[in-house]
Amino acid sequence: HPHIVIAVDGPAAAGKGTLSRRLAEHYGLRHLDTGLTYRATAKALLDRGLPLDDEDVAAETARALDLSGLDRSVLSAHEIGEAASKVAVMPKVRRALVEAQREFARIEPGAVLDGRDIGTVVCPDALIKFYVTASPEVRARRRYQEIISQGGSAELPAILADLEKRDARDAGRADSPLKPAADALMIDTSDQGIEEAFETAMSIIEKAL
Ligand code: C5P
Repeated sequence: HPHIVIAVDGPAAAGKGTLSRRLAEHYGLRHLDTGLTYRATAKALLDRGLPLDDEDVAAETARALDLSGLDRSVLSAHEIGEAASKVAVMPKVRRALVEAQREFARIEPGAVLDGRDIGTVVCPDALIKFYVTASPEVRARRRYQEIISQGGSAELPAILADLEKRDARDAGRADSPLKPAADALMIDTSDQGIEEAFETAMSIIEKAL
């Protein structure tokens, strides 16, 4: 069994996290949600009352991060996502986190990494690259239902506006902007469920193995 790396990129709430987890389970690979590395960096700064706009302080915080202790349940807050996309524009922060992500990808038997720049920057030699998208409306509705099902309250128009703002920041930044790699395979989850997307992805992987 050769070393396998699968890259999964796309905007927020497109379904890439669930798809990546399913693929990792199915193929016995390790999984890294790289968004958590940016979120954990932002949370560490917020918790310590440190500024979000000091690149050297943020990069130092990123370098000290322990990838094995990342837990989405303590990093899922909306404010943390916002703060994450702010520290994610800083090249020194990205360099520190990308290095740790590449190290994760090198460990046997291989890994599925999901994020914004996996196919373009972190693992340009990945065996397979997926770019998972869905319309902003569909993604906002998914995020909305997720919050409501967890007993929270939310308003759809505000969620849509936030998603579009974060997409614009992620796609508009100079360093490693959100965009499909030239050799990425597109999976649009606007009209298909995660199960269907998983089947599509699997049939593509089977052909490449
Ligand atoms: O995917 P998630 O919402 O957890 O990511 C939070 C933020 O981290 C994104 O909005 C993006 O700015 C940043 N990020 C990134 N590169 C990655 C993963 C996430 O810039 N590979």
